[in-house]
Amino acid sequence: MPDTQPYDYILAGGTVIDGSNTPGVKADVGVRGDRVAAVGDLSGAAARERVDVSGLVVAPGFIDSHTHDDNYLLRRRDMTPKISQGVTTVVTGNCGISLAPLAHPAPPAPLDLLDEGGSYKFTRFADYLDALRATPAAVNAACMVGHSTLRAAVMPDLHRPATPTEIDAMRALAEEAMASGAIGVSTGTFYPPAAHATTEEIIEVCRPLATHGGIYATHMRDEGEHIVPALEETFRIGRELDVPVVISHHKLAGQPNFGRSTETLALIERAMAAQDVSLDAYPYVAGSTMLKKDRVLLAGRVVITWCKPFPELTGRELDEVAAERGKSKYDLVDELQPAGAIYFMMDEGDVQRILSFPPTMIGSDGLPHDERPHPRLWGTFPRVLGHYSRDLGLFPLETAVWKMTGLTAAKFGLAGRGQVQPGCYADLTVFDPARIADSASFERPTERAAGIHSVYVNGAPVWREQAFTGQHPGRVLGRGPEA
Ligand code: ZN
Ligand code: CU
Repeated sequence: MPDTQPYDYILAGGTVIDGSNTPGVKADVGVRGDRVAAVGDLSGAAARERVDVSGLVVAPGFIDSHTHDDNYLLRRRDMTPKISQGVTTVVTGNCGISLAPLAHPAPPAPLDLLDEGGSYKFTRFADYLDALRATPAAVNAACMVGHSTLRAAVMPDLHRPATPTEIDAMRALAEEAMASGAIGVSTGTFYPPAAHATTEEIIEVCRPLATHGGIYATHMRDEGEHIVPALEETFRIGRELDVPVVISHHKLAGQPNFGRSTETLALIERAMAAQDVSLDAYPYVAGSTMLKKDRVLLAGRVVITWCKPFPELTGRELDEVAAERGKSKYDLVDELQPAGAIYFMMDEGDVQRILSFPPTMIGSDGLPHDERPHPRLWGTFPRVLGHYSRDLGLFPLETAVWKMTGLTAAKFGLAGRGQVQPGCYADLTVFDPARIADSASFERPTERAAGIHSVYVNGAPVWREQAFTGQHPGRVLGRGPEA
């Protein structure tokens, strides 16, 4: 029977890049309710609204595979840093840190990266997800639970391996999180709260992943000299649990390791032949996290992103401040705590090689609570589409789109997302392929991206004419086949 019901709106005359890594085709997109109802020639069809998008690309809304938006989703529900660059879904709870389950007035770094004071107040993961559902954000969220958060909830002293009793308690919390709708567990053994966790501890805490079909994501123990054993540990955890693993923000940190992505990508490719492994990356040579007394991180240029005891140092170079105060930057790091920083620690050749590696997804790793954030928070997705795909020609536009949509939805098990097909959710981003660009820079980190025309989440417009529409259609997403 022909479909004669009117569409809520038709995005007419654009080029659809559907998220499957195939070139764009000229087609109209008809939306009804929260779904894409038709893709094709809809010139004769009835619609309440017809939006002319000729000359523009209609793509699936971008999925940010790596975020620290757990608390931001509740506090700044418009999610402007994300919707302004076309992101419609964020994966939260990365690097071992999630907002729940933990009640704590002053959580240790790096958990404090999510805190705005009193933010850690959810003792059950279900309570956090309920809050997200009760006051939804503009974007969808797929939420992981962080192993460091579990440690902070259970262990009085984080600077040792967990005891069997503590492991049982953490596993019970992980079980509660997975049963209530978390999509996985993340670890961050690079960071102090989890640095003393053994591989066996992680495997035992993550057991519920296997029964709930969850995913394991990791900020590995080492991204520098000892990256190979860190990769091997990651693969082992995935194998022993028999679950998919995600290597977060893959990078080679520190000048002596520049160029070693040839080695790590070969190892990752080999592991992929034997087990489910994925990886993501952000498109910059600088990283950002807590201010950490770390030889590799502090070796290059360091810029302070926030500093509790000396807020006036925000935006300053660590070297300069150290010179002014007549001390070494290592000693200064202790004085400035708690604080955050940007670290110029990567090689452009590695960044490009990792981004070009076909299985690499795009994740921003943006830190939304930072006073002067790394520009990746506002610029990651347009930078991949504009700078790396269009301007440098690293890969075709449809591949860039796939790395932030279809590939990510498949890897994270987000059913009905990441594609523009009849029946899938109407998470859509319309952009100008000639103009799209990241405007955020290290000097002006919160500049809005250029070339984003409009953004829709579950059928509802959230970004039009360079502004938030006031709608909060975001949902909590589960993993696996649609219910
Ligand atoms: Zn991380
Ligand atoms: Cu992260």
